[in-house]
Amino acid sequence: MQDILNRTSVRKFQTKKIEPEVLKQILQAGFSAPSAKNTQPWEFLIVQNPQTLEKMSSFTPYAMPIKNAPLGMLVCANINCNPFIDYCEQDCAAATENMLIAAKKLGVGSCWIGVYPNAERIEPIRQYFSLPENIVPLWMIAFGYPAETPKVKNKWNENKIHYEKF
Ligand SMILES: Cc1cc2nc3c(=O)[nH]c(=O)nc-3n(C[C@H](O)[C@H](O)[C@H](O)COP(=O)(O)O)c2cc1C
Repeated sequence: MQDILNRTSVRKFQTKKIEPEVLKQILQAGFSAPSAKNTQPWEFLIVQNPQTLEKMSSFTPYAMPIKNAPLGMLVCANINCNPFIDYCEQDCAAATENMLIAAKKLGVGSCWIGVYPNAERIEPIRQYFSLPENIVPLWMIAFGYPAETPKVKNKWNENKIHYEKF
């Protein structure tokens, strides 16, 4: 619970690499997510090559965290698993949040970088990684051991809780 409550986006990272066993645990958390009709429509493209990470940071104006991260992940939807992209997106978001929390638990910082549904972000990514037609790039995640300790935001808001009727 503390890892959920204390997670923050981390945008500055140490150069230290993420160990394969740590990455495996993060991925296991992703694969454990629920999905509509258990279709598991996620695909995780892992990047550790610095040149590729730099390229990934250029795909959106807000992708700077990827540039100095030791590991970037492109989360994609496989619409052969579920043709409804909205459901794919929800499923992949569940997997992503699981991975962010698992990373926090393991001492790894992370930052979610939005891509979908902006066409001007999707198309260059699709081309650069030669993604097949059925693979839709949804977002990227920067992972790395933190080189900053962002303050936890207090998001508790009684006004957004509704009992019995809105
Ligand atoms: C769908 C989505 C897209 C996001 N895109 C970006 C992004 O492009 N760049 C970035 O630095 N942070 C991005 N974030 C992180 C948010 O800015 C961050 O979660 C929010 O400010 C709350 O801060 P916290 O994660 O520290 O609690 C994104 C988060 C989500 C869920």
